[in-house]
Amino acid sequence: MLQRMCGRAIIVIGAGTGIGAATVERLCAEGARVCVADINLAAAQAVAARMTEIGHEAHALAVDIADEDSVSACFADAVARLGGLDGVHVNAADLRTIFHDSDALSLDMATFDRTMAVNLRGHLLCTRAALPHLLQSDHGAIVYTSSSASVAGEPERPSYAASKSGLNALMRHVASKWGKRGLTANCVAPGFVMTPEMIAGGAVPPDFIDQCIAGTRSTRLGKAEDIAAMVALLLSNDGRWINGQVIHVNGGALLS
Ligand SMILES: NC(=O)c1ccc[n+]([C@@H]2O[C@H](COP(=O)([O-])OP(=O)(O)OC[C@H]3O[C@@H](n4cnc5c(N)ncnc54)[C@H](O)[C@@H]3O)[C@@H](O)[C@H]2O)c1
Repeated sequence: MLQRMCGRAIIVIGAGTGIGAATVERLCAEGARVCVADINLAAAQAVAARMTEIGHEAHALAVDIADEDSVSACFADAVARLGGLDGVHVNAADLRTIFHDSDALSLDMATFDRTMAVNLRGHLLCTRAALPHLLQSDHGAIVYTSSSASVAGEPERPSYAASKSGLNALMRHVASKWGKRGLTANCVAPGFVMTPEMIAGGAVPPDFIDQCIAGTRSTRLGKAEDIAAMVALLLSNDGRWINGQVIHVNGGALLS
């Protein structure tokens, strides 16, 4: 394993399961000291425990990114424990809302509001909490998890797509405003990724999986580790000249 993150202080938000948990594992394996933050504290604690058991430095924190006070407290705690901040991966999304995110005519506005509160406003709150610390590092980096849905144009899940398109715009703003101060900001935009939780849950219909594989230009579906590898690159010195980009990691399902 590469050792690009030796001693770096990183916080991953939405790190209890799926892509965020895989990112924690990858960053720890590359030598980072990681704060594992999630609204699901028990899941974050399990990830941190797995890491510390194999000799890495990780600790869990509770955060609800829809709540400004919770975000402020989480970053204050993380910075106090880590002694600074070199990188942030803002990955959380409330994916329960997707199941009600039908179309612009029929969706309940509560679905739209909740999606925006977590997937977009929450990412702005994390950005505001992170920036003062990242700007003190000479290699500060922030990576947001967007989605293919941010650019694909689909007949369903308009709130989710709008939240992720907004996130791409927020990222471009952050890179434009603070790039000259040494910060990099980028989005990783996954295609369909079967997370360990989805595999364990067994609820994804086989037909849908077959359809997704048929729709890629690769031989398999995405894994959480595929996204984690890109996040690690973007947070490392190998990513220092990548700034203001939406990087699609999707096996060629969507060409951009
Ligand atoms: N899995 C995919 O196919 C896929 C594709 C494209 C984009 N994404 C994006 O990747 C990211 C991770 O998705 P995943 O598939 O690993 O799902 P996941 O549900 O396993 O991960 C999301 C994490 O965010 C946490 N979270 C939810 N609301 C939160 C809040 N208010 N505050 C703090 N944490 C909160 C959840 O507890 C969970 O641990 C999301 O941003 C998602 O939109 C996933």
